[in-house]
Amino acid sequence: MTRYAEGSKERVRDATDLLALVETRTELSRKGVDSYFGRCPFHDERTASFHVRPQVGVYYCFGCHAKGDAFSFLMETEGLGFVEAMESLAERAGVELEREEEDAGAAERRGHEKRLLEVLERAAAWYARALWESDDAERARAYLLGRGLSEETLRAFGVGWAPEAWDRVLVASRRAGWSEEELFAAGLVQRGKGGRVFDRFRERIIFPLADERARVRGFGARAMREDQGAKYLNSAEGPVFSKGRQLFALDRARRPAATAGEVVLAEGYTDVLALHQAGVATAVGLMGTALTEDQVGVLARTAKTVVLALDADRAGQEAMLKAARLAEGRGLELRVVGLPEGSDPADLLASEGAEALRTRFGRSMPFVVFRVERALAEADTGSAEGRDRALTELRPLVRGLPPSIVREELVQRIAAHLQLPETLVATLGGGGRGRPGSGAPDGSRGTRPAPVAAALDRRERTERDFLALVLALPAPGAEALARLDPDAHFTTEATRRAARHIAAHPSDPLAGVAEEDAELGALLARITARAERLRATRDLLRQAEFILDLGRTEREIASARAERRPHADLAAHRDRVRRGIEELELG
Ligand code: CTP
Ligand code: MN
Repeated sequence: MTRYAEGSKERVRDATDLLALVETRTELSRKGVDSYFGRCPFHDERTASFHVRPQVGVYYCFGCHAKGDAFSFLMETEGLGFVEAMESLAERAGVELEREEEDAGAAERRGHEKRLLEVLERAAAWYARALWESDDAERARAYLLGRGLSEETLRAFGVGWAPEAWDRVLVASRRAGWSEEELFAAGLVQRGKGGRVFDRFRERIIFPLADERARVRGFGARAMREDQGAKYLNSAEGPVFSKGRQLFALDRARRPAATAGEVVLAEGYTDVLALHQAGVATAVGLMGTALTEDQVGVLARTAKTVVLALDADRAGQEAMLKAARLAEGRGLELRVVGLPEGSDPADLLASEGAEALRTRFGRSMPFVVFRVERALAEADTGSAEGRDRALTELRPLVRGLPPSIVREELVQRIAAHLQLPETLVATLGGGGRGRPGSGAPDGSRGTRPAPVAAALDRRERTERDFLALVLALPAPGAEALARLDPDAHFTTEATRRAARHIAAHPSDPLAGVAEEDAELGALLARITARAERLRATRDLLRQAEFILDLGRTEREIASARAERRPHADLAAHRDRVRRGIEELELG
């Protein structure tokens, strides 16, 4: 761990021009002595609420209340840790940082590491040139360009080629003054059985692995022939390289990701190159391994949302579950981009083009939604046991969610797919009441509505479920119905009319329908039929009422927000409703 001498922070702060720093992000105009205003780089706004006082060295946003100094500004906008931010500011201001008195051992290690990084940098430049100049690199270029990657992208990422020869890097580096021991430590050479030393990478495409400050620490090297051993060979773990700490392209993605608040995690080298080429500049690569704690730490520091774009195969799924476990407790929001089975981002770039790939990556879904969709797609809905199994798998997923619109929609989705009444599925989120497989099918067997497009349809279904429960439980049902306002709690004209009609004719709803009103009659008939098959309980009724009230409250909050009306009371009510749902589920 690097330690800088006492007073370093103050020296860097004094030398830093906060105004110039902030102006790399937003335009400022002078409003008074030591007072500048501009649009806030931390939130979206049209007015200029961001206030900078360069002499005092602080900023404050009157809109989102972001505040701090040059250090925090850089940490937030670029996803840096404090030490990195200080180093970066020192570099900008031309301040030479002094290290804490270090013992001779530490100084030597640092000198050693510096030499290793230097020789890695030289090797990287040498490999990169070879890709375009070496005679035997033709196949490598053909493969890379054939994957749809442009020369510009390949050059930007320093992709290279290690030729066939056994000792090119060895000889060149020795000549430039590095010892064999150093080349070992840097992971560039290895020793054969007879004790002979030779280049580690031969006849391979070279992907340089840089750290977040763009210092090359090692390489990933892809074979070009079938009989070459491992498809990918990495630098050996050593004093400067550890694969589990690296994320491919972090140096390039860090800043865009910090700004966007979102980092995309893809599988490997070509995936990341394809994404950057398509304009998804927030992408980093996991390099085929399982995500490590170290990597999650880096991701969490970079952005609050991590978008997983991993293969749909088993390994990719495992990686996602592991990512979810690690992300939990770090306050990271996980989202998933669904990729068609068997194709990776590079394939998609080639087949669909950049625009379509960007659109795909703009449309991620919450991790839990992705898991529910997978479980439903794999469920055997043809048998009661199959639906039971699916519910068992889905139960903990739904149970883990706070009451919310997302949860309500998932419940509706599960109910539709497994042909169960929503109210039944909703309670499975908590206590596991009700027997799966015993619910009333709703004529939708086999159809699978698109998740988002069918949302309205599903909301209406919740409303019909509620009305069926009202009919099934006359006394508490009438009370519940009286508590609701048809115009506010129901979202379609059809269910509103049904609600009013049932309130007026609770004991025999069908009798009072005018003959010419076929639409209302048909709806009431469906609701009545459903009421007879439901396993109605007071808890289910209460639950359904809560869900309608939650929907109503969230709609009102949304319009209050849009009109900039205060809505604290609505928010408080929403929290009460959520708690009510939670209590019912625990009960
Ligand atoms: N990987 C690795 N070691 C392996 C296999 C894979 O490090 N033995 C990593 C690499 O980062 C690779 C990623 O996992 O980019 C994805 O693997 P794969 O799809 O097999 O390789 P690609 O690079 O995508 O090459 P291609 O699809 O053209 O075969
Ligand atoms: Mn691949």
